[in-house]
Amino acid sequence: MTEQKKMSRIGVFDSGIGGLTVARELISQFPKTDLVYLGDTARLPYGAKSPETVTRYAVRCVQFLIDAGVDQVVVACNTASAHAIPTLRTIFKGIPILGVVAPGARVAVSASKSGVIGVLGTEGTVSSKSYPRAIHALQPDAKVLSLAAPLLVPLAEVGWLDHDVTRLALRTYLEPLFESAPDMDTLVLGCTHYPALKSTIDAVCSSLDRPMTLVDSAEAVTAVLAPTLQDSKARRRICVTDLPDRFHRVAATFFGDTISEVEHVDIT
Ligand code: DGL
Repeated sequence: MTEQKKMSRIGVFDSGIGGLTVARELISQFPKTDLVYLGDTARLPYGAKSPETVTRYAVRCVQFLIDAGVDQVVVACNTASAHAIPTLRTIFKGIPILGVVAPGARVAVSASKSGVIGVLGTEGTVSSKSYPRAIHALQPDAKVLSLAAPLLVPLAEVGWLDHDVTRLALRTYLEPLFESAPDMDTLVLGCTHYPALKSTIDAVCSSLDRPMTLVDSAEAVTAVLAPTLQDSKARRRICVTDLPDRFHRVAATFFGDTISEVEHVDIT
């Protein structure tokens, strides 16, 4: 078996704050990793933008992270993972670039007993069909049903993680999805914000009598990264492309801890 190259400074980017769920998981598993996080808050949301626009933004984000000295990049944003990975790998050849779609698909395929898998994501992620493609590459006879659930993003951002409005939105999205697929047993949380809602999603699935195995892309991508990471000095740099104040206020919801400093950077 060939030994994997060890990386010491990892870059994570997202359209905004949601990717902190990935940074949080990474730090909780590997507390000694150096991490640079970029939230492209000036251009958020990516979820309703065209593949070309999202790819253009993603190229700028990765360039920023490379200039900041990272030796590996995680595209935490599902929409950017869905649209931009091939272009990013072509442009930035020497840097390993990992998206969340392939790891999430792998976990979903191994978790599902029935082979019927649901995917929740942004409009962009769903229309790209990247999750069904990645799942079918592993299990050609899998049945994949995808649903755009854009309202969940602002609900998570205002911190309504366990709120009647969020439960109602979830029931409204999930009921028809479950009715159309009685054998569905696995649900991919295909958006950075959804892991923050995981326990509410779990409770709503149970209340509809449809318990699901929930696939969290933050956990899935961290498992893939594990063999590549090596201990470093646990330095953190958290950057955003728009004013940091709002990001700073809601960051703890996603990060699970307070963030001492959020830096404003210009990547235009
Ligand atoms: N980060 C995006 C994703 O995971 C959600 C927020 C947005 O639309 O930019 O798809």
